Amino acid sequence: MKFLATFTAAAAAIASVAGQAAETPCDKYTTALLKTNNATNQLTVLTLVVNTALIGNYPNPAGAPKNNVTGILNPGQVNGTGPMVNLLPYFDGTLKSTNVNGNAQSVNFLDGGGAAPLMSNMAAYANMTSSKQYMLITHLYEFFGVLLGCSAQNSSSPFKNYEGRTSMSEVHRFMNLNETEMNYFIQEVGASATSFGVTTEDATAIGGALNSMFNKRCLAPASIGGGANASQSICLATSCPVADPSSCAQTGQSYGNGTNGVEPASASTSTTGSGSSSGKDGASSMVVNVLGALSLGAAGLVAFSM
Ligand code: HEM
Ligand SMILES: *[C@@H]1O[C@H](CO)[C@@H](O)[C@H](O)[C@H]1NC(C)=O
Ligand SMILES: *[C@@H]1O[C@H](CO)[C@@H](O)[C@H](O)[C@H]1NC(C)=O
Ligand SMILES: *[C@@H]1O[C@H](CO)[C@@H](O)[C@H](O)[C@H]1NC(C)=O
Ligand SMILES: *[C@@H]1O[C@H](CO)[C@@H](O)[C@H](O)[C@H]1NC(C)=O
Ligand SMILES: *[C@@H]1O[C@H](CO)[C@@H](O)[C@H](O)[C@H]1NC(C)=O
Ligand SMILES: *[C@@H]1O[C@H](CO)[C@@H](O)[C@H](O)[C@H]1NC(C)=O
Ligand SMILES: *[C@@H]1O[C@H](CO)[C@@H](O)[C@H](O)[C@H]1NC(C)=O
Ligand SMILES: *[C@@H]1O[C@H](CO)[C@@H](O)[C@H](O)[C@H]1NC(C)=O
Repeated sequence: MKFLATFTAAAAAIASVAGQAAETPCDKYTTALLKTNNATNQLTVLTLVVNTALIGNYPNPAGAPKNNVTGILNPGQVNGTGPMVNLLPYFDGTLKSTNVNGNAQSVNFLDGGGAAPLMSNMAAYANMTSSKQYMLITHLYEFFGVLLGCSAQNSSSPFKNYEGRTSMSEVHRFMNLNETEMNYFIQEVGASATSFGVTTEDATAIGGALNSMFNKRCLAPASIGGGANASQSICLATSCPVADPSSCAQTGQSYGNGTNGVEPASASTSTTGSGSSSGKDGASSMVVNVLGALSLGAAGLVAFSM
């Protein structure tokens, strides 16, 4: 609710689709899916929705999926057309796209077991709670929980308030993400939500809120959960639409222009091969290997769907 209170326009959009002013999407769908609307069940719903958005459908106790979800970590297209989008290289250390104390570095965020623990409704294997994966995915449960108005989230609850960094332009500063990549991410979040019975109307409103809050360059500063009053722009490529009104010239923790068009470098410095793009070739084969692991999850999903 803190987050929603900050982004008032988006809050109104999301709250109104829940049907009643008093009931948030999180509370509404926790009750619908798991009957009892408490902290544990809200966390379970966010875990199901975030894990499914990341890896696609997997067998779960909340019922068969109502639609197939490809998953953010698997390649796919926006609305089934346009360029193939592949976001995995930003997550698996292929690219030097992570902001580590102001430097663009390669970080593997799939170091807690990858897709396998997600299919068991976890953020990472239970013996890997110190991993980057555990940290990132736990933060995503919390962040989307706050966004969707989970009423039982607080600092002493089993479902904690958002504990991650509060400037999204700072977090995503070196990724140089464009609108197509953002649209794919938002599409998969929406597809995951509807796969659990969220209505198309509610999912569209949530997607629209994500679009207006993050899918523009040079967004004016806003504070998430009392955190940094900073630009929350995630679409930072020069081709991204500029917010209206625009607020490009901010200081502090705002990076509304990202890298001003500089693409993240490949972590691979391979000099083998005779082609002109040996570095990229090295990166591609890494991607294929990790995708192989994720496809195993997809195989499980197909078995489950039938
Ligand atoms: C509406 C769109 C998006 C939202 C709301 C969002 C939100 C977030 C949040 C809350 C974090 C956690 C930060 C922390 O733990 O401190 C995060 C991290 C991350 N996001 Fe996004 N994100 C979005 C789109 C994307 C896209 C399109 C990509 C493409 C690859 C992406 C890649 C990442 C990566 C790699 C991290 C880990 C970065 C780090 O911890 O340094 N995100 N995002
Ligand atoms: C939430 O309700 C479930 C029953 O659906 C129960 O098992 C669980 O212990 C409850 N959690 C809390 C924190 O009360
Ligand atoms: C999901 O895809 C599988 C395999 O293509 C298909 O058999 C199944 O009917 C689809 N499920 C839904 C709910 O669309
Ligand atoms: C995808 O298709 C829907 C329905 O036709 C449309 O409303 C939406 O704008 C499209 N999204 C993008 C990113 O093109
Ligand atoms: C945006 O990213 C997609 C997928 O990575 C890429 O195919 C496309 O060319 C990019 N679009 C622009 C305008 O740079
Ligand atoms: C952590 O747990 C997983 C799954 O149970 C197991 O495969 C792995 O070997 C364990 N790793 C360590 C370091 O104990
Ligand atoms: C925090 O959340 C827990 C579980 O939802 C609840 O029992 C408790 O009253 C809340 N505490 C505060 C200070 O709101
Ligand atoms: C955030 O910063 C902007 C511009 O500096 C300012 O107008 C706004 O009032 C600030 N908001 C908060 C919540 O401090
Ligand atoms: C950010 O982008 C805007 C719009 O493209 C441009 O006018 C401005 O000079 C850029 N600002 C910085 C600090 O790079």
